[in-house]
Formats: sequence, structure tokens, C-alpha cells
Amino acid sequence: MRRVVCPGSFDPVTNGHLDIISRAAQLYDEVVVAVAQNPSKTTLFTVAERVELIREATKRYDNVRVDRFEGLTVDFCRDNDISAIIKGLRAVSDFDYEMQMAQMNYNQAGVETLFMTTNPLYAFLSSSLVKDFAKFGGDVSGLVPANVLERLSSRLAEP
Ligand code: PNS
Repeated sequence: MRRVVCPGSFDPVTNGHLDIISRAAQLYDEVVVAVAQNPSKTTLFTVAERVELIREATKRYDNVRVDRFEGLTVDFCRDNDISAIIKGLRAVSDFDYEMQMAQMNYNQAGVETLFMTTNPLYAFLSSSLVKDFAKFGGDVSGLVPANVLERLSSRLAEP
């Protein structure tokens, strides 16, 4: 089975992420969306919430599985019999770091990284920007799936 992992923080998942996931699902037998749990990083949503939001948003795809991981992406790949990572590239500014990480992952574990160019509709989009705009009353309804929009509003309304 040809399996690829799409790793990230997904705090929260955006339409840009979903575009990459859905296109990867057309190329691979299975796409595993791996949600990073990094205890030293403050997130708006817990890892369990992030997993749940992605599961809801990808339920129409039979070959997309959502899981969480802590530690190295390459260890997750080894444990799940995955030989490649897929990443979306939005702009040249993403490239330096992503290339370094890809080369490190190949050097350390022989895991390949494939870069998919982001749909231009979402080239500017990031989870951080979505959170910042939503926090101050911006309309992010076209940028995230409906379940995320709902959960964002309720989370940001909490005291
Ligand atoms: O959505 P993000 O925050 O850009 O995702 C970053 C993520 C989770 C893909 C990246 O931090 C990662 O791969 N973390 C796992 C740790 C790891 O494997 N680091 C090795 C870098 S060489």
C-alpha cells in the first residue's frame, strides 16, 4: 500500500491544509494526517481537539486517517510503515526551512519528502493568521471548514 504522511500542528486545520490533504488522497492509497503534540508549544486547541476537527473535516475521504504523534516525524513514519512525507509549499519563504527539514529527515531515516504547491487561493493562509483575525472579529468563514469556524467562535468567546 502506498502511504504518505501529512504532518503539522493544525491549530486549527485550514482550507489550505484540506486542499493539500485532498489532493494527496488522489495520489496515494492512504494519507495519514499526523497531528504534532508538542508540550513546549502553546496551542489554542488540544491535540485531541485538533484530531477531532480534522476527522470531521475529512470524513468524506475514505483513504484519509488522522492520528497524533509526539517526537520526530520520521519515527512516526517508521512506526506506521510510511516512506514519504508530503508538505504544502506556499511561498519561497517556506522553502529554506522545509528543504533543510526534508534533507535531515532523509539523512537520518531515508524518509522522502514531497512538496505540493499550494492552491493560489490559499497561498497567504496560515493557522496563526486565522487565529489572529478571528480573535479580533475578522471574517474567516471562507478560510476554514464550518466545524472549525464554529469551534473557533466558541473557543474565542470563552473568558
Ligand atoms: O504546522 P507546523 O507547525 O508547521 O508543523 C510543523 C511540524 C509538526 C511538521 C514539524 O514541527 C515537525 O515535523 N515536527 C516533528 C519533529 C521533527 O520531526 N523534527 C525534525 C526536524 S528535522
